[in-house]
Amino acid sequence: MAKEDVLPAIHGGGRRILAPLRGVTIRPFRRVFADAIVQSGFVEAITPFIAANQGFDPLKDRELGSAEAIPVTPQFIGKDPAALRASLERIVAAGYTTADLNCGCPYPMVRNKGRGSGLLRTPEILRQMLEAGCQTMGPGRFSVKVRLGVDREDELLGLMRLFNGFPLRFITVHARTAAEMYDGPCHRGMFAQIISLAKCPVVLNGDIPLTGEVEGIPPGADVMIGRAFIRSLGDREDIGELLDRYIELSRQELCGERPVLCRLKELLAYWKDLPRWRRRWQIAKRACSLREFRVW
Ligand SMILES: Cc1cc2nc3c(=O)[nH]c(=O)nc-3n(C[C@H](O)[C@H](O)[C@H](O)COP(=O)(O)O)c2cc1C
Repeated sequence: MAKEDVLPAIHGGGRRILAPLRGVTIRPFRRVFADAIVQSGFVEAITPFIAANQGFDPLKDRELGSAEAIPVTPQFIGKDPAALRASLERIVAAGYTTADLNCGCPYPMVRNKGRGSGLLRTPEILRQMLEAGCQTMGPGRFSVKVRLGVDREDELLGLMRLFNGFPLRFITVHARTAAEMYDGPCHRGMFAQIISLAKCPVVLNGDIPLTGEVEGIPPGADVMIGRAFIRSLGDREDIGELLDRYIELSRQELCGERPVLCRLKELLAYWKDLPRWRRRWQIAKRACSLREFRVW
């Protein structure tokens, strides 16, 4: 299958996918920041993970539903192939044509239960999940997001034969182990080996900036970017206006000020080191009401 068949190209280089960040790149965020997402060259977004379960209803799910500026791929987390199949059948019926499986969530309470990165330690269940995904979505329509391993950087290499047995759309590799969580240097040296072994396109992920070259990322590579994009938003001229809209949409969706404040604080925390936000963040993080919080 040619790469072009599975991901649309963007002008001048590799394709850019917006990373799923639970609590951050959620549907109202994608709506409010749609222009920034498009201007930054993203051609697709993966949703933060949704639990794959038998009762899943895409029409009631907060992550899905409205038309968006760029194509959106729902991401599922779980370890029950039948539940994944049922969830995927429902998103297909709702009109979605692609889906992604979370094989990367590093939190011990998730991975110790065999979900997220825990799937890397249960290859037979992983195989059944890939089978369920590829059969239900169809060839070239189901992707996976993985870590290099649970606590060793070479675990994924040993699983590539398994992944290669399925007609995956792409495999996104966050160049850390689950044990490393989100910090410390990425092991970009592993990318070349994974790309050489993979039968499907590989999307590179982990601390990739929005501009400039990075060692270990070949020019023109397909990349997934999360936190660098979120950080860049703090410097936008229109950020006050956008935040006001984000508050408004969040108030419509959530009950009371407290959850809205939590959501907004999580976003502003990405900007705490930007000169423009350093003092404002000190005030915003202590705010107990939206009135106190509006520091822009
Ligand atoms: C707050 C937060 C939430 C995340 N939620 C998800 C998620 O729902 N699904 C997923 O596959 N990865 C999730 N990730 C991982 C990111 O998608 C990405 O792999 C990681 O942040 C590294 O990329 P970056 O350095 O470009 O942000 C999350 C990361 C963070 C920091």
